[in-house]
Amino acid sequence: MSRIAYVDGSYRPHREAAVHIEDRGYQFADGVYEVFAVRGGHLVDEALHLQRLRRSLRELKIEGAMGDAPLGVVLREVVRRNGVDNGIVYLQITRGAAPRDHAFPREARPVTVVTARRSRPPNPKLGEEGISVITIPDIRWQRCDIKSVALVANVLGKQRAREAGAYEAWQVDTLGRITEGTSTNAWIVTGDNQVVTRFIDHAILNGVTRLALIDIIRREGYRFVERTFTVAEAKFAREAFLTSTTSDVLPVVSIDGDTIADGVPGPLTRKLRASYIAHAENG
Ligand code: PDD
Repeated sequence: MSRIAYVDGSYRPHREAAVHIEDRGYQFADGVYEVFAVRGGHLVDEALHLQRLRRSLRELKIEGAMGDAPLGVVLREVVRRNGVDNGIVYLQITRGAAPRDHAFPREARPVTVVTARRSRPPNPKLGEEGISVITIPDIRWQRCDIKSVALVANVLGKQRAREAGAYEAWQVDTLGRITEGTSTNAWIVTGDNQVVTRFIDHAILNGVTRLALIDIIRREGYRFVERTFTVAEAKFAREAFLTSTTSDVLPVVSIDGDTIADGVPGPLTRKLRASYIAHAENG
């Protein structure tokens, strides 16, 4: 089956799909995006993704984008036309195309692109054996709460992880506290079995997987707190893990080459991973 993309009002063969060379997403990273997981043909936590999308658009003052209802139709149509039962949908909305000028152009209107592809959830082996992360300075801008396409700092960070043979890089602020991964949220479990993740402010993205897992944690009655934690605390944690749409919940068993606890995925992480996967499949 050949791939089909939605570009600014029409469905096109993926190979031919294109945006204008003066699209502001291309020139200024002036746009936002979402990545949805598709499991068993349905979009996982669609409403939470759309809420975050609206917030990102609002924060960047991008007006006139397609509403939730027509967008929902397009998302489903792209999933259907690409025969995606399990995979991801990528949605991007930029401020549009206009002659290059930093200030908002009067004539531009938002340009929406939606693509989808089949992919498997992360290799179950990663869930069974755990993954390693490195830590790097957080060099990003001060509005990481907006899911903007300006990801070059994240790209550099992920590449450092790749070159170090690690799955992810956890970014660290000037006070030595972990903010988040380059495309994931960071979590630890303390010695007294409290699940900890950073609170939400402008320094991190409020992950949809993070929100879904907080809901699961509360429902299942685990102890939970939103606070910052340092690299040192994470290295001495009982358990550590990360979350994202494309990673689900993955146990972290080493940070900068230092083994977490006994170096195998912890029991609480395993339970939360199983509960999250059930939620994604059934939700
Ligand atoms: N990344 N933090 C950052 C910086 C992210 O880019 C992401 C998502 C997350 C986790 O968010 P969620 O649980 O909503 O996926 C946290 C997506 C998957 C990406 O850029 O591919």
